[in-house]
Amino acid sequence: MTNKATISMQEDARQAVRQAAKAEPRTLAELNALISAAEPFVPGATRAVLGEGPIGAAIALVGEQPGHQEDLQGRPFVGPAGLLLDRALLEAGIERKRSYVTNAVKHFKFEERGKRRLHKKPSAGEVRRYRWWLKKELEFVRPRVVVALGATAVLALSGKAQPISRFRGPHDFDGQAGYITVHPSYLLRLPGQEAREIGFREFVADLKRASALAKASAEPRRSSR
Ligand code: URA
Repeated sequence: MTNKATISMQEDARQAVRQAAKAEPRTLAELNALISAAEPFVPGATRAVLGEGPIGAAIALVGEQPGHQEDLQGRPFVGPAGLLLDRALLEAGIERKRSYVTNAVKHFKFEERGKRRLHKKPSAGEVRRYRWWLKKELEFVRPRVVVALGATAVLALSGKAQPISRFRGPHDFDGQAGYITVHPSYLLRLPGQEAREIGFREFVADLKRASALAKASAEPRRSSR
């Protein structure tokens, strides 16, 4: 249902994006300052959780949105899904601190249930509103390969809803080399130990392939003559 508050929030969000675009940030730090100062485009959020990692990282990992722990600590992927991601990166031989880690949506969208804050999936409209930030962020970071973790990241990166089951694997995001895989939270929700272990192995294999793509794109081309 669309009520007055939602309409005004949507209008504010559009205006905020227009304002940010007008500000023409020239560096990632300037962009981050804009993101931090902007009103959240989703209800419930408290603060912006910015991406982290070095500019020029070979791999950028894009998740959905910060969760409860990320919102408290102000860092991406530090809760249960982050721990699983860390374990998978380690097994794939990818150093997290040399990668760039961020989210499609920069604020935690949640609903209060007593003392608990329950994660709420961002709508497609909300994800689109955050797209400008993400695209700009990746323009500054210039990763060789962008890994989309789950459907929200795919929507944010491509502008289209594309099912993971069909598009899992290497992907071109409007000229940016990418790779589509599942979100680590999906693995945490799989029923049964065996399914979780198989899912984890496949996730690690995806990360290894994405890393190989990044390495291949860094190697100087051999002359065919
Ligand atoms: N899930 C995400 O998509 N991002 C985070 O930062 C944490 C959990």
